[in-house]
Parts: sequence; structure tokens; C-alpha cells
Amino acid sequence: MSTTLSNLLHEVRRFEPPAELAAAANVGGAEYDTAARDRLGFWHRQALRLSWTQPWREILDWSNPPFAKWFVGGRLNVAYNCVDRHVAAGHGERVAIHWEGEPGDTRTITYADLLGEVSRAANALTALGVGQGDRVAIYLPMIPEAVVAMLACARIGATHSVVFGGFSAESLRSRVADAGAKLVITADGGYRRGKPSPLKATVDAAVADDTSVEHVVVVRRTGAEVDWTQGRDLWWHEVVDTASPEHEPESFDAEHPLFILYTSGTTGKPKGILHTSGGYLTQAAYTHDAVFDLKPETDVYWCTADIGWVTGHSYLVYGPLANGATQVMYEGTPDTPDRGRWWEVIERYGVTILYTAPTAVRTFMKWGSDIPARHDLSSLRVLGSVGEPINPEAWIWYRENIGGNRTPIVDTWWQTETGAIMISPLPGVTATKPGSAMDPLPGIAVDVVDRNGNPVGNGEGGRLVATEPWPSMARTIWGDDERFVRTYWSDLPGRYLTGDGAKRDQDGDLWLLGRIDDVMLVSGHNISTAEVESALVSHPRVAEAAVVGAADATTGQGIVAFVILRGDAARDESEGAALAGELRAHVATQIGAIAKPRQVIVVPELPKTRSGKIMRRLLRDVAENRPLGDVTTLQDSSVMDQISSGLSAGATEE
Ligand code: PRX
Repeated sequence: MSTTLSNLLHEVRRFEPPAELAAAANVGGAEYDTAARDRLGFWHRQALRLSWTQPWREILDWSNPPFAKWFVGGRLNVAYNCVDRHVAAGHGERVAIHWEGEPGDTRTITYADLLGEVSRAANALTALGVGQGDRVAIYLPMIPEAVVAMLACARIGATHSVVFGGFSAESLRSRVADAGAKLVITADGGYRRGKPSPLKATVDAAVADDTSVEHVVVVRRTGAEVDWTQGRDLWWHEVVDTASPEHEPESFDAEHPLFILYTSGTTGKPKGILHTSGGYLTQAAYTHDAVFDLKPETDVYWCTADIGWVTGHSYLVYGPLANGATQVMYEGTPDTPDRGRWWEVIERYGVTILYTAPTAVRTFMKWGSDIPARHDLSSLRVLGSVGEPINPEAWIWYRENIGGNRTPIVDTWWQTETGAIMISPLPGVTATKPGSAMDPLPGIAVDVVDRNGNPVGNGEGGRLVATEPWPSMARTIWGDDERFVRTYWSDLPGRYLTGDGAKRDQDGDLWLLGRIDDVMLVSGHNISTAEVESALVSHPRVAEAAVVGAADATTGQGIVAFVILRGDAARDESEGAALAGELRAHVATQIGAIAKPRQVIVVPELPKTRSGKIMRRLLRDVAENRPLGDVTTLQDSSVMDQISSGLSAGATEE
């Protein structure tokens, strides 16, 4: 049995950076060498992008691994860095946020406005008895108050824990309890899919019993009726709008806890990933500047991630605001009121940099390229991708139909635990390959290793690890140092285990293959789900594919593929079997006969988590005819019924 992942796909297309962009790029190719020669000196210089009230004594203290301390002894205020200093530098009139609500209402918030709002909120939180070290849970829709609330916490040294607005009362309850949050900030609701969706009732249920929560502050967004607990509940507009817009920021230690963000673990209990201040902000700001080539004077940047995910933290709040960016923030769904909403937003604000997820790109592919074609997207100059492997076909579609065949695509690999981007092309430097995240950024050291921790050669696959500490690394799992060590640092001592599979191609460039747990073992060969999915999506009739390994008496595991067809390739029941055969043959030519799916099942939708990741566990249950596992984190739980009922129609078995 091979100990490495197979290296099966061959991609020969290359895209050089546009000459104009390369000539004016924030970061040039020499930075890789400079950083490699003196990694700590490199991060020292990047930390100088920020305003510190006290310089650090030591760049990195790694004397007690894996518990890192960066910029030891340094002091700063994160909110001051994201807001005040831009106003002090004369940019108070620059727009920080062009906000657009789903119903079409808009707000324009300058850096001066943001300073007033954050200061008011900081004063209001202080008046409610929230101070340094206290935890605040934020459970809000995509409205500016979410950004203001996070920055207000940072400003007073409270640690925020943002919980995605789509999570249930039970999820919220366990997160509030784990963090021991004193305050919850929520809203009466938010707009999604054309109607108000309530939030306050979920908070009421989550904090009903014995709880650490003293107050619930409620933003009025939809005007919906809410239940009210006198003494505990307070309206945002009553406590914040009446507070003083003057607030003197205090500075905090570089290692002061900035936020906790819960990510799902393999066991039921969510992991509260802890990030601190100086190192986190340094890497968020550096990577945002380098990877997106941000020109704060002229760019209009849009990250479509929800604030409840780490992408929303690092690339909607902390990175862009630390860099003084002008950005778009949108409340709702991409198909409200119609499927052209995003392209309309880009046209309206002249968005120049778009950062989104492959799942969105594949959805747009499925809806058809005629929709973006109706809009003027010529302002775009850099496109980003994050969250899962972007298969070459979706990459090309993104470049051609959204990027007008001009824009570089930066496929950015990172995790909640890494805090900021680790692997990505640089738009003015890298000749990109569709589907490859290419190289670690300057100052970042990663490797692909086999089971024993030995580096694999070019053309081989293995486990992705980080070999040196980096500034925005997670400091621990909140309240559980032991689990932090066990989960990420114990298999290969001294190295951080990402849990992802990766391969180096013939040139040594990196291809991410998804979670190690998703690798299939077919007749003794390791085959990654990502590679088979890419092969399927490269067929003109397929918009999206999810592949799982199902127990197979002969081969160990058999490959079962679930596919969604493209909008312009309408499903035809009678063609189902023929198409399945064609797709199996297609995978065989793309990768090899070994990767040929045992079954191809045409489905209307795929089960996804709320952050857009495919839940392969549930598909494995279907493929192995097991009763379905837990579906509570599914974005839309009816999807599984649709898949089960479609099974008989689209399945082909040999
Ligand atoms: O499997 C990798 C995948 O998403 C995981 C991290 O998920 P999360 O902590 O929710 O953070 C998502 C946003 C950073 C990784 O372990 N992933 C993320 N980006 C990529 C990716 N897989 C392939 N290519 C990427 N660009």
C-alpha cells in the first residue's frame, strides 16, 4: 500500500501576472528570498506596519512550544490600528464600508463615522460593566453593527466570540457557556432570501437557563416583535447612540486575547480557537496587502464571507481595516431579488477586488454565464478564492466569466487555526496554475510529508504541515491546552498538523487535496476526493461534484460520485444512465481507470455546512445505505431528502 497520496491530475495551463499589475505590485518576487534569509526579521518589519504604543523586546518566544508568543512585551490597541490612525492620517472622509442590505437599503460609513460608532459602542460596553478580559458573544447578521461590535470589544480589551447567525440556540448556548460570555450582542433579525429572519428568539432560548450572560444588547434591524426580558435586554440604539463618541483607547499586550472562534471538531464539542492581538493583526494586514495587492486610495474591495467565519474576521474586519481599505459589505443572499445581485453590486460600487469561495463560483457556473455577462465587471482586477480546493474548471470559469480573462486569481489556503493566509499566489509575481494554491507566502514555512514526517518529493502527495511558527497562529483551544497539543502538535513533534492532504507537482507547487480523512483507498491506491471531483467538473455538463469512498467488498472502498448538472445542460431522466457512463469514462481518461467512480448519482443539490463545505459524511451514509447521521449543521436539511429520492432515478451501478 502506498504511503503517499497518488499524484494523478496533470494541469498544463499557466497564467502570467498582467504586466501592469506586476509593475505596480505591492510585493515583488524578491520578498520570498528576503523573508527566507531572515524570517523573524521579515515579520519584525511587517509588524512595523502597525502603530504600537510600546515596542517589543523579542520578535518570537518559542521556548515553550506549541505556545508561541509573538512581539513579546509590545503593546497596541487593535481598534486604534483599524480606525483611529486612518482618521489621524487625514483619511477620515474615506469610505470604510459601503454597506448594502438585502432589501436594497444602503449605508455609507467613512472612517470618521466608524471612529464615532466604535467609540460610542466602547463607552456603552464599559458602562455595562464589560472590561478587559471579559468575553462577549456576537450573534448578528451582516450589518455594520457587527463590525462595530467586534472593534468596540477590541478597543476595550474584551474578547469577542462571533457566532454565525445561522447557528441554532443549542450551538449558541454551548458556545456562550464554553467562553463564559458576559454579554450577547444580537439583532431582532436580518434579511435573507427576501424576508426577515429572526435572531433574538434564538438568543432567548440559548440564554434561558443558568447562564453567565448578564445583558443582551439588541440591534433593531427588521423591526420584528421580540420578547423582552426587563433588566437583561437593552436596545443598541438606546445604549450606544446615547453614549459619547469620544473614547481614549488603552493599549494591551501583544498577546492579549482578541477573539475566540469556534470551529467544529471531530468530537461533538466545538473547539474555541484563540487568537491574540499583535501577531494576528500583523499577519492579517500583511497578507491582505500582499495577496490582494490592495491600493487603499483606489481599490474597492469585497469579501463575501460572513462575519461569523474566520474569513470574515481576517479579511472583512481586521486585515482590510488595518490597511485603510474601502470595502463593500452585503447582508443577503446572491439570488435576491435575482441571480444577478452580486454583479449588480460590483457594477454599482466599482469593486476592484473580489474574494469569495469555490462553492459560490460553482453555483454561478450552474446558473449560467449569461447572468454575469449582463453586467459591466471591468472594474475587477484581482479575484480571490478560499475555503476549499477550487477545481481547475471552476477556476477557469471564474477567470473568464468574472475576471474577463484579465484578472489573476489568488487561491488562498488557510484555516481558522492559522488565522491568516499561509499559501497563495502573489498576484504580481506568480504564474498561476488553475487549481493550485502554488507557494507558501513569504515568511511562512510549510511542507508536505509522509506518515513518518519525511518530506515527499515533487510529484508526490502527503500531509500538509507548517514547520515554523507564524505570527497569526492559534495560541490554544480556549480552556483546553491539552486538546490543542493533542489535535495539532503531537503526531509530528515541533510541526503543526493541518489535517489537510496536499501534493507537490513536478515544479514543486502545492495542490490542496482536502481533509486527510476524505482520502479514499481504492484497491490499495490513495485517491483524493478533490481530484476526482475536479475531473468530473471538467466535463461540460457538470457544475458541481462531491465524491466519497463507500465500503466495497472487492476494492476496499469504491468511489461514489454525486453530481449537479449545469444550468444550460438541463436534466433529462432518460439520459441519466448514458450520462453516468460518459462521466465514468471521462474520469478514466482524465485521471486513470483506477479513479473511475463505481456509481454516478445525479442530484439537485449537495449537503453543505453553513460555510459552504460539502458534508461528505452524510453522502457516505447515503452511499453505504446507512441511516443518516446528524444533519443539524446542514444549511438546508431538505437536501438529503431530495438526494435520497433522486437516488433511484440517477444511479448507475456496475
Ligand atoms: O481543508 C482546508 C479548506 O478549509 C479548511 C479550513 O476551514 P476553516 O477553518 O473553516 O477556514 C476556512 C477559511 C480559511 C482547510 O483545512 N481550505 C481552505 N482554503 C482552501 C482549502 N482547501 C483548498 N484550497 C484552499 N484555498
